[in-house]
Amino acid sequence: MELKNVVPWGRSFDEYQEIFSLTNVDLNKSILGCGDGPASFNAELTKRGGNVVSVDPTYEFTAEELQSRIAQVCDEIIPQMIINKDKYVWESIPSVEALGKIRMKAMNEFIADFDAGKLSGRYFHESLPSLSFEGKQFELALCSHYLFLYSEHVNLEQHIASIKELCRVAKEVRIYPLLSLDGEISPHLNEVISSLDAVGLTNSLVDVGYQFQKGATQMLVVKSV
Ligand SMILES: C[S@@+](CC[C@H](N)C(=O)[O-])C[C@H]1O[C@@H](n2cnc3c(N)ncnc32)[C@H](O)[C@@H]1O
Repeated sequence: MELKNVVPWGRSFDEYQEIFSLTNVDLNKSILGCGDGPASFNAELTKRGGNVVSVDPTYEFTAEELQSRIAQVCDEIIPQMIINKDKYVWESIPSVEALGKIRMKAMNEFIADFDAGKLSGRYFHESLPSLSFEGKQFELALCSHYLFLYSEHVNLEQHIASIKELCRVAKEVRIYPLLSLDGEISPHLNEVISSLDAVGLTNSLVDVGYQFQKGATQMLVVKSV
């Protein structure tokens, strides 16, 4: 992977909590954040005493490399957000300016935590559909803004293999959003659900309290025990 092809953009702990309807009971579980990138979920949950491990292909880079790339992409993403403003709900995040501040705060928290977190085994350079963890090592796996969102780049087989892999390593998996980048329901969703049903993985679409991308109001929950 080349650094110039990486587009780091990460959400905050508060957003993850809303996105995945995380209760205090959930936050006390052993959690895998898959595709966490520069989100601050791991840094903030760790500060609160939680037990969380994050994986992402971009964790092969150093904190300095990621930080310089974040500064570059922020200058590219913010003008894009202004152009695409109508595709988002501007309520809890009231403006593009506020969005930039919230995202930069989250990503700075991630950068400040990255070296220490890597040393203590909280950040691993790994990629779906194959993870190194043991069977049911985690109680809960979360996947925010990777599966389904990038349906144009990640095909159906990769979706199915990735979700089965998450179910191998965690007792419960939550994935959000179910829309792809064009704002439509992912073309893979129905077939993913059929293949989970076929192997007996209980799954449901669950409403969440978070909505930023218009129409992204549900997560997929898969239980493997
Ligand atoms: C839009 S970002 C979302 C970051 C974070 N989860 C959040 O919601 O703020 C998508 C992330 O998916 C990661 N990603 C890309 N390919 C992946 C793969 N094969 N397995 C796991 N994560 C991947 C990217 O590196 C990036 O950090």
